[in-house]
Amino acid sequence: MPHTITRAVVIGSGTMGGGIAAHFANAGIPVYLLDITKDVVKASFDRMKKNKPAAFHTARTADLVTIGSLDKNEAWIAEGDWIIEAIVENIDAKRELVAKIDRLRKKGSIVSSNTSGLPIASISSEASEDFKKHFIGTHFFNPPRYMKLLEVIPTPDTDPGVINFVREFAESRLGKSVVLCKDTPNFIANRLASVGGATLVDFALANDYTIEETDSIAGPLIGRPKTAAFRLQDLVGLDIASAVASNLHGLIPDDETRDILASPRVEALRKSQTDKNRLGDKTAQGFYKKGGKEILSVDLKTGEYRARLEPSIPSIAEGLKIKSLPERLKFVLAQDDKAGAMARHVVYNALGYASRRVPEISDDLPSIDRAVRWGFSHDFGPFETWDILGVAETVEAMEKNGASVAPWVKEMLTAGNTSFYRDGRVYSPVSKSYEPLPHDAREIDVKTLPVVQENKSASLRDMGDGVLLLEFHSKMNTLDADIRALLNESIDELERGDWKALVIGNQGADFCVGANLKNAGSGFSPTGPAEAGPSEKNVGSGFSPTGPAEAGPYIRAAEDAVKATQDALMKVRFAAKPVVTAPFARTLGGGA
Ligand code: NAI
Repeated sequence: MPHTITRAVVIGSGTMGGGIAAHFANAGIPVYLLDITKDVVKASFDRMKKNKPAAFHTARTADLVTIGSLDKNEAWIAEGDWIIEAIVENIDAKRELVAKIDRLRKKGSIVSSNTSGLPIASISSEASEDFKKHFIGTHFFNPPRYMKLLEVIPTPDTDPGVINFVREFAESRLGKSVVLCKDTPNFIANRLASVGGATLVDFALANDYTIEETDSIAGPLIGRPKTAAFRLQDLVGLDIASAVASNLHGLIPDDETRDILASPRVEALRKSQTDKNRLGDKTAQGFYKKGGKEILSVDLKTGEYRARLEPSIPSIAEGLKIKSLPERLKFVLAQDDKAGAMARHVVYNALGYASRRVPEISDDLPSIDRAVRWGFSHDFGPFETWDILGVAETVEAMEKNGASVAPWVKEMLTAGNTSFYRDGRVYSPVSKSYEPLPHDAREIDVKTLPVVQENKSASLRDMGDGVLLLEFHSKMNTLDADIRALLNESIDELERGDWKALVIGNQGADFCVGANLKNAGSGFSPTGPAEAGPSEKNVGSGFSPTGPAEAGPYIRAAEDAVKATQDALMKVRFAAKPVVTAPFARTLGGGA
């Protein structure tokens, strides 16, 4: 049966339920948000409206959410086309609620449980047949509006039509990237991250690393986000992180690595932090804490806060200067110092563990790589990283460092296959051959589109179907004279040629951070080269402390730059054919 979502019902208005309700509203869908009592839901809703970063697109979006309580408004459940349960992580509570939903829902409505890793099929095992057909697990990441990954977990009873619909809806309407997961404890991303996080913290404690050293090594240096290890724990909340780890430990008796989740060193540290109510951001103190203007960190030996201690490992700063991640990673892994030792332990164990979880948590490698990239913002997933480092040589290095490799990887190498990914295909440990990479026909890789015109900061490309694409690629996608020039020419080309429309978009980290303050006025300076010339920063205000005489040329330069930008944008606005802008992430100043 085809599905349409004209009304969603979210039950549980906490961090996740509230955020999911807000995000459905962001997609234009009216939502009933329910909790145990009206007071609880009202308090959550009020808090959510003030959330930072904002949960709602605009203040008015919140009007699409109607709040109520299960004791008074349970009948609303019958109106939902999709009912999302996001109450506490407790299987009995979830099963009890499922029985209620089963009794009240309309036939054919979709029901999902949001959980960090509880077994989905056992949540619905007592439900009716129609319920089971329409029931699925969803694991949104926090905060739901911003995190790209959505893990979707079907049960053996879930109707394939429901799986496809949920996936399509989540991608097209909610803007998520979906990874279908098996119903195994903590699914993919949290399974790998829980074990990986414990491995890292245990190593830091066993080998006397400081918090600063650990977070400097396990962050961008090895292709991971700045939150690295301890900062991430503060963000997630130590209570949550501990509960997820101990739940997982109990659920995976056959996992050869599970003991790391119960590492006495890590548990002692967690206990000492929890006893002092240092749960992280939620209690305003964790492994890090604000002390006046300073950020203090816990001394892992004494358990007391102290001023930040800059790591004195030269290879960290040296490594960070290497722009290319593959080269940076190879550099760090080769260091004969504390940075190298930690990087080897963390990276090699992560690769080994991921290989040993196949096919248990996934039959295919891209699902694992994507879950790690989209869920935890690593630059590369484990198998992508392994390819970068060279599979055979890394197997050797891993074994030298005590990280065991799954037999299927060695089998792959013995059969003469030297990488996981090859020519747009990926090795399947199940079929033992290369298979086409899953590809979404709606996805376009900008860099592969033919160039029509190009300069240093922007390219005009042919997207097919008679549509042009203007791509910015200046530093941080700042607006400069080159972008202005190509913007003008793009409109000329659009109007002059056989083109139907123009899209302005790119695949950078930010759409556009505004004017380039360094060289916006270049070419206007009476004093010489661009760098030495006036800038929009010092002239934009139209005020100079040195007086109008000196400021004159600077102000004129900025005015000219602003006018040229304004003229180009007006040309876009009044173009004879459609121009669609596709902004995302930071879209500031002239970019907005
Ligand atoms: P929370 O503790 O912030 O909110 C839970 C809400 O459910 C509370 O408002 C509570 O009053 C309500 N509730 C509890 N029992 C209820 C019942 N029987 N009927 C109706 N409402 C009830 O929890 P949070 O963090 O929002 O988590 C919800 C679910 O999402 C959990 O299963 C959790 O494991 C999962 N999750 C949490 C993430 C996180 O970062 N917090 C990330 C991904 C999943």
